[in-house]
Amino acid sequence: MAEAAPIVAPAGSEAAALLAELHAEAFPPAHRWSGDAIGLLIALPGHFALLASVGGEPVGFVLGRVAAEEAEVLTLAVRPAGRRAGAGRALMGALMAEAARRGAATVFLEVAEGNAAARALYAALGAVEAGRRRRYYPDGSDALVLRLPLGDRLESPAPTRTPTRPPIPGC
Ligand SMILES: CC(C)(COP(=O)(O)OP(=O)(O)OC[C@H]1O[C@@H](n2cnc3c(N)ncnc32)[C@H](O)[C@@H]1OP(=O)(O)O)[C@@H](O)C(=O)NCCC(=O)NCCS
Repeated sequence: MAEAAPIVAPAGSEAAALLAELHAEAFPPAHRWSGDAIGLLIALPGHFALLASVGGEPVGFVLGRVAAEEAEVLTLAVRPAGRRAGAGRALMGALMAEAARRGAATVFLEVAEGNAAARALYAALGAVEAGRRRRYYPDGSDALVLRLPLGDRLESPAPTRTPTRPPIPGC
């Protein structure tokens, strides 16, 4: 039987411990975020988390924020066992819809230059390179800044500047 499609739903601060578990499975130790940090981020104004589940089992989440017309992906994580089944794409689609609903015209995100999986996902969604942050990650690797216009949901021209640096390395 075919695998069930991922279901994406909002997640609040009460889900922070679960989101931290998913994050720890998806990222190497130096990139991990604690449940406390995730809970604090979700509670900040303009921030939100979306959780993907398959057959009732959590497989991944995305954390984003919107300020004025700009949205940002703070992190995106799918557990290894749940990958290549559409969860990442479903989470990004839901984030883009939520960002547009909150008034954003553009989504920004950072991705490690060597992260082929994430770069392929973002390219498939229409993201374009907007800059580079040198030695952005704890391991000293560069981040590419990507810009993802929200297409026909745009109500004003896309900004050309890159967003301010988040308090902890994003994505
Ligand atoms: C990046 C990540 C979120 C993708 O999640 P996913 O659920 O496997 O992605 P999807 O199944 O929705 O894939 C959507 C598309 O992305 C691309 N893609 C995803 N993984 C890929 C890989 N390993 N190699 C090449 N392309 C890949 C493909 O175009 C894919 O479409 P297809 O399966 O029809 O070919 C996941 O690999 C992950 O959690 N990685 C570790 C954490 C991370 O890097 N987060 C992003 C930080 S910016």
